[in-house]
Amino acid sequence: MLGSLLLAVSRSPLARRAVSGFPVTRHVVDRFVAGEDAGDALRAVRRLTDARLTVTLDHLGEETKDARAAAETVKAYVTMLDTLRPLGLGDRAEVSVKLSAVGQMLDDRMALDHAREVCAAARDAATTVTLDMEDHTTVDSTLSILRDLREDFPSTGVAIQAYLHRSEQDLRELSREGSRVRLVKGAYREPATVAHQKKTEVDKAYVRCLRILMEGKGYPMVATHDDRLISITELLADEAGRSRDSFEYQMLYGIRTDKQEALAAAGSTVRVYVPYGDDWYGYFMRRLAERPANVAFFLRSLRSK
Ligand code: FDA
Repeated sequence: MLGSLLLAVSRSPLARRAVSGFPVTRHVVDRFVAGEDAGDALRAVRRLTDARLTVTLDHLGEETKDARAAAETVKAYVTMLDTLRPLGLGDRAEVSVKLSAVGQMLDDRMALDHAREVCAAARDAATTVTLDMEDHTTVDSTLSILRDLREDFPSTGVAIQAYLHRSEQDLRELSREGSRVRLVKGAYREPATVAHQKKTEVDKAYVRCLRILMEGKGYPMVATHDDRLISITELLADEAGRSRDSFEYQMLYGIRTDKQEALAAAGSTVRVYVPYGDDWYGYFMRRLAERPANVAFFLRSLRSK
């Protein structure tokens, strides 16, 4: 209930102005966002890679209807990738891109051309790109852009949301040789016609999707903080005869860092999704919606000022 409300306000310009206006908000946002600029993001990359973790960087922003802003986002990604190149991290530091930040709401062609620029910069830095998945209305367009990108940049990956009824079929088509798929539960407010609504149903769907990925020929990226699903991942990987380096775990910056480090220490590849930039509102509200305790933490911070 509270989660749905937060997801609804995550798209309200009025709520965006109100929440962003609290001076204390920044303090709470910092728990989930590495910082406002590229320097902050690079410091987080250093810290995490020194701790044997790998990263995917997300320049915050989404749902832009402004062509200039879309071009600025591309520039920010290319600059970041040019900065990463001499560090020689290779695919230990990749990037994640929301197509709606690079023009998908304006024109699919623009989003494709912009994504190509980011993929080319990633290739020059010996790394790759994973496309985030946004609300269900964008899935066909995102998968079509992915197909085009993979012709020139075959290692481009995509996030698939287990809560969508269509995802098992999408995964059967995607889990081919060379594909990279990030399996997530799904973070948007979706109608029952397209998505499972109950947590137990989403979790069961996640396991079905995971089985398809593990039995497929691609590289599964298991993006969850859920202990039960992590244990099931190990079982399904064993059943499918997969070695530990044939899939990876992914978690969000600031969430379950103890678990991230424990999995990495046990020999798994763990990639941390590191968001940075000043357009944090939508991302932040989705993190609050995932866990009511985060809202309590936010409200306590407001009261204590
Ligand atoms: P679940 O929500 O059940 O959480 C399991 C446990 O993890 C909780 O009990 C708690 O301990 C901890 N936890 C989870 N969320 C927390 C939070 N916000 N604050 C504190 N603790 C928390 N979604 C999407 O729709 N499109 C996308 O492209 C992506 N991309 C993406 C990349 C990566 C690397 C990750 C890890 C996740 C995404 N997501 C996403 C978000 C995803 O859909 C989902 O909303 C979150 O991962 C939370 O789901 P869990 O699987 O962690 O389970």
